[in-house]
Amino acid sequence: MKTIEKIQAILTILADGEFHSGQSIADELGISRSAVWKLIKKIQTWQVEVYSVTGKGYKIPNGLELIDEQFLQTELQQKNSLIKQVEVLTSIDSTAEHLAREWKTQSNEKTSDWSDSSYARVCVAEHQTAGRGRKGRTWVSPFGANLYFSIGFQLPLGLTALGGLSLAVGMGLCQTLNCFSNKPIKIKWPNDLLVNQHKMAGILVEASGDTNDTSFLNIGVGLNWDMQTKQAETIEQDWANLKPLLSKRLSRSQVMLAILCDLDKTIQSYLQHGFSFFMPNWPELSAFYQQSVVLDVPNKKIQGIEIGVEQNGALKLQTKQGVEVFHSGEVSLRGAT
Ligand code: BTN
Repeated sequence: MKTIEKIQAILTILADGEFHSGQSIADELGISRSAVWKLIKKIQTWQVEVYSVTGKGYKIPNGLELIDEQFLQTELQQKNSLIKQVEVLTSIDSTAEHLAREWKTQSNEKTSDWSDSSYARVCVAEHQTAGRGRKGRTWVSPFGANLYFSIGFQLPLGLTALGGLSLAVGMGLCQTLNCFSNKPIKIKWPNDLLVNQHKMAGILVEASGDTNDTSFLNIGVGLNWDMQTKQAETIEQDWANLKPLLSKRLSRSQVMLAILCDLDKTIQSYLQHGFSFFMPNWPELSAFYQQSVVLDVPNKKIQGIEIGVEQNGALKLQTKQGVEVFHSGEVSLRGAT
């Protein structure tokens, strides 16, 4: 058994939140008690709290709710036309990095699934050692606490045609989550999902390829689910979890499935109709629509009223100079910072 498989087995045993003796775990895995102890130490570095009590053994308080790969795979195959394959990893550097690596090594092979334009692959991870956010930031990814996933697919479109797609994905995700949440979730241009001004999810869209020909799109989503304050110590902004806002009980796997099914539809609608299909929903979903905002661009802060988005996903502000359009920048509410 590889180390990662042993760790996976231990986490599955401890997921019930009960005490398990070192000896019983050792016997089940066919390893020594000291090997179990070393693996528990490794698990603790993934920000999982594991109690160790002499005479009782190990326990994860409140247990874990692990993502069910088999459930996702079966459901996706039945329901979806684009996202057909999903893998759930126990730990990886970054789901985005993982898919990019796979694409690089496989896209040139004639038999590769990637060459099929109606094929998208999903990588979900329980833990990321080097989760990345926009602008080179780190995405805090404690084990089992949140949802971390990437969708990769090759498109018969050049990079220039993708402007609005990343925004459409954010809007689609926002609509899905609003179906479960008892507080409104809004989008902060271009790709943050907020609840009551606290960040609940972030989206990182990376594309590579030709300007006019095919491109590989890698959409990464990090969604805070049930993260503990202790696990989020290094996060420098206000953040929120989805789980406490759910209007009915749903497992992480069920939420993951709903998100993937809806994203499948979002991507297909975008490929068929473009961003104009999504544009009418912007006023309702935007966190700052018709509000006074500040846009942070390198060496400048621009003040204006957010009045919408363009066909290519750019942000429209009514400034003193008139209507101005921006392709990048960090938006905040005026007076909020
Ligand atoms: C942001 O900065 O708001 C974007 C965060 C995106 C994080 C996700 S988690 C899954 C995927 N893998 C990564 O390394 N990053 C994205």
